Amino acid sequence: MRQIKAYELAGLPVQLNPEHIPERPPVQDLCFYFDAELAQITELLPGKKVIIITDEIVNQQLSHKFPDYPVISFPSGEEHKQQSTVDQVIKKLIGLEAGRDCFLLGIGGGVVTDITGYVASVYLRGVSFGLVPTTILAMVDAAIGGKNGVDVGVYKNLVGSIRQPSFLFYDYSVLSTLPVSEWVNGFAEVIKHACIKDALLFAELERYTLHDYQQDPSLVSDLIEKNAAIKNSVVIVDEMENGERKLLNFGHTVGHAIENLHQISHGHAVSIGMAAACNLSEKFSTLHFEEASRIIRLLARYHLPVDIETDHTRVFEVLRMDKKRIRNEVNFILLSRIGSASVTPIPVELLQHHLKEIL
Ligand SMILES: NC(=O)c1ccc[n+]([C@@H]2O[C@H](COP(=O)([O-])OP(=O)(O)OC[C@H]3O[C@@H](n4cnc5c(N)ncnc54)[C@H](O)[C@@H]3O)[C@@H](O)[C@H]2O)c1
Repeated sequence: MRQIKAYELAGLPVQLNPEHIPERPPVQDLCFYFDAELAQITELLPGKKVIIITDEIVNQQLSHKFPDYPVISFPSGEEHKQQSTVDQVIKKLIGLEAGRDCFLLGIGGGVVTDITGYVASVYLRGVSFGLVPTTILAMVDAAIGGKNGVDVGVYKNLVGSIRQPSFLFYDYSVLSTLPVSEWVNGFAEVIKHACIKDALLFAELERYTLHDYQQDPSLVSDLIEKNAAIKNSVVIVDEMENGERKLLNFGHTVGHAIENLHQISHGHAVSIGMAAACNLSEKFSTLHFEEASRIIRLLARYHLPVDIETDHTRVFEVLRMDKKRIRNEVNFILLSRIGSASVTPIPVELLQHHLKEIL
């Protein structure tokens, strides 16, 4: 097990509060544990009243690896990322007499890590927590950055907070039970990172296939660490999303709008959103047609969809409610080339005009 502090992973020189696990760590103090085994997690939590939060599928598939702590589980799936699930988890915490000294350990995909962070930020006005991501998507994205929350009807992540976990713990052996569809889902965010930040990573992804990553543990652990470093380096300079962090929304504006309208997975929705954003990047930025085509080909290489039959009027209605809308403009993340992105405001009427073409 290798411990890397968030500031080291981001290549920053400062060192803050080196040893203890603080109750509410600043983002720089967050610890990443790579190449770890779940059984070792007890070493990080001596004397803590730890409660595991997970979903039913992860509990069924991986509970034999869980350390001996009480478990609260809820039904799996995005449709359960709702306030009612949070309320049920909180009732169970009360049943376990969890006080301010408890430590919540979220083990699961992005739904579990989002809900665990949210519960930890509101229960007793805030308790400590750590995360063990078990999907590719959660390992490279959802578990990193402290954003948490729940959906409200069709509106994704409308309610939540930003609160950093004490640590992120990576045991790659959990991926052996992950269905192929969830690998595909996670690679949407990997491709997103390459598109906005890392042309070399993009070229690496063009060389390999999903099967290569599934078969080669060192290849996948290297990929996950690279992607965790990209996400962390963005979050560490802009935790509250005032600037740089907005770039991580590449593909998510249209993606979120169609995600709940169509009940498709997050990765598929983001992939379609990235294809739409590439199209807009050709129109409103400097992305060349050839580069946009390379991105579309890469998405297809990793079995991701690039378009969808949809009701443009409904998509537009959801877009108008987007968190990134300011007055009559939606802040879109566009690419100027592979590896370089920027925030570009697009007037809502113009968006409505182009929506049919880009989706
Ligand atoms: N907070 C953030 O910054 C952030 C960023 C990106 C995505 N997200 C959120 O993450 C969520 C999507 O995450 P996800 O794709 O991990 O979905 P998920 O948590 O629903 O997991 C997908 C499925 O895989 C199962 N699963 C998880 N790990 C497994 C394993 N090792 N073996 C077998 N089955 C396993 C789950 O039970 C579930 O059925 C969305 O709600 C999205 O909004 C949050």
